[in-house]
Amino acid sequence: MPASRPSKPAILIARAIFPEVMDKLARHFEVEANPADALWPRAELARRLQGKQGVFTTGGERIDAALLAQCPGLRICANMAVGYNNFDLPAMTAAGVLGTNAPGVLTETTADLGFALLMAAARRVAEGEHYLRAGRWDRWAYDMLVGQDVHGSTLGILGMGRIGQAIARRGALGFGMKVIYHNRSRLPAEAEAEVSARYVGKDELLRTADHVVLVVPYSPASHHAIGAAELALMKPTATLVNIARGGIVDDAALAAALRAGRIAAAGLDVFEGEPQVHPDLLACANVVLTPHIGSATVPTRKAMAHLAADNLIGYLVHGQPLTPLNPEVMGRA
Ligand code: GLV
Repeated sequence: MPASRPSKPAILIARAIFPEVMDKLARHFEVEANPADALWPRAELARRLQGKQGVFTTGGERIDAALLAQCPGLRICANMAVGYNNFDLPAMTAAGVLGTNAPGVLTETTADLGFALLMAAARRVAEGEHYLRAGRWDRWAYDMLVGQDVHGSTLGILGMGRIGQAIARRGALGFGMKVIYHNRSRLPAEAEAEVSARYVGKDELLRTADHVVLVVPYSPASHHAIGAAELALMKPTATLVNIARGGIVDDAALAAALRAGRIAAAGLDVFEGEPQVHPDLLACANVVLTPHIGSATVPTRKAMAHLAADNLIGYLVHGQPLTPLNPEVMGRA
């Protein structure tokens, strides 16, 4: 009699992903996919997680104690995102569930979008495009759509992890900018020198920078890190860019500041309560809005999906994930 093949572990893939990544996962796992590609309601997610050892998440699925209590067989949640504020990591650790994220592979791509938004906001690119398409361009004028310079200006970076450092390099090397930064912990001197950045306090950064880029992770501590009081410190000519997470900026306060001209312009890729966008922001001409596309290039999204898949395979098949967030759960029964 032929020996029966050992059954493969079962996993859930919570959203649609690249077919090549599906194929790779199907070689190792019994896979349940999400053909409708809509975020499942929590009860539905819990129901589909029954009997699954792993789940491929994309950042929108909240994994917390209440969900984990319903899924005793779950061992790993692999996020196809570098941010993991959808994970309650202490609850996962308490439940013995490993979390993994996708760091590194999206750094340069996300820094590129940060710079695109900075340039577009400071030089009024989107406003200019709307003006032209609306048929309003009928002559040259000395002050038509005049904005602020990027080259040679002062770039303030709030949060100095991998993406912050990649933005600093672009600013210093590509645009001759003076770079200042603020972070929970100061970089070692060699790392500061490598990205040509000077450490300053948060208030000094807001007061001094011509362009402020936010790259801090979202947590209760960074909620509304930029609100009315912080916006009031910024120069009236300044631009603000958020490529980190919605909720770091108080969007209503930002819209009020943009409308009143308290700052010149903003570029936003992330929003409180996205995919909803605060209606007051939609009504502001001096803000460039993109739908959370910081990592959205084909090679980078593929690299993120492969890394999440490799974390599932690494842990459930070989016992060794690539980018664990709470490695202390490994080795527990
Ligand atoms: C995108 O926002 C990510 O965290 O990867």
